[in-house]
Amino acid sequence: MISLIVHGGAWDIPDDVVKAHCNGVRKALSIGWKVLTSGGTAEEAVERTIMYLEDDPTFDAGRGSFVNAIGEIELDASIMNGTSYRAGAVAAVQNIRHPISLVRLIMNNSEHIFLAGDGAARFAKEHGINQCRSEELLVGRELERWKELQKKKGFLTKDAFHKKGPGDTVGAVALDSYGTIVAGTSTGGTPKKYPGRVGDSPLIGCGTYADSRIGGVSSTGWGESIIRVVLAKTVIDIMENNGNLPHEAALKGIDILHSKVDGLGGVIVLNKDGVPAVAFNTPRMARAYRTSEMNECLVGIEPV
Ligand code: GLY
Repeated sequence: MISLIVHGGAWDIPDDVVKAHCNGVRKALSIGWKVLTSGGTAEEAVERTIMYLEDDPTFDAGRGSFVNAIGEIELDASIMNGTSYRAGAVAAVQNIRHPISLVRLIMNNSEHIFLAGDGAARFAKEHGINQCRSEELLVGRELERWKELQKKKGFLTKDAFHKKGPGDTVGAVALDSYGTIVAGTSTGGTPKKYPGRVGDSPLIGCGTYADSRIGGVSSTGWGESIIRVVLAKTVIDIMENNGNLPHEAALKGIDILHSKVDGLGGVIVLNKDGVPAVAFNTPRMARAYRTSEMNECLVGIEPV
């Protein structure tokens, strides 16, 4: 069994961008699927899948990311290999086109797991990833949004995930033919976030977790709530104790997010056998998945 599941964010995705979100996750999935079917590793599939989503300006990751309160773009990302239990993460890094490639490099070429800010950019440079210009990440839509939000008093991070507020984040979980599960997540965070604000996406256990003996998870949504229930690892723990049932675990994880901290968000899950599941409590969540038992991928955006 090989398997791949992808998400492009859980929020109140407006009707006029539904198509772009569905097309984006479909295309991203097809890229990762090609890697897996040609014998590539789950690490490579997750990296290539998320690189595509970081390039697609539809999504809040890489190019197209939200702008923070002082007009800068700060990116968060993480990756975890569920066989080696190695992980890589960056927070508040600037001018990096593909944070997912940087976290994979940290995972495999550093004794550390998590690098922040200038140190992450320095590591990138030392390992051949050059900083890009800010204009490569900034799109007109987000510049306009930033200008509008500057006029708005009282805008809260939580508002980005409902009330037609914008909120994205991208992620992928893959099971390769060698039995390894890898999960990864990448984001520009939330609009008008305080400089240095770090969400759930780069935090191992919150935004991303993988354990090839149990499964893998990537989260999306209101980071401040996801962090407080350690969402990705919570779903993994539930799955470890429920007979490896991914759908039940995903639903229970979102139930905990809602009931304990009034949280908003979603998760994509693979269990150890590559069975996919998704759950969210935002109005919509863009996702796509495929397993070797399916002839084509399944794309969705509405609640199941
Ligand atoms: N889930 C993305 C963030 O809150 O930064």
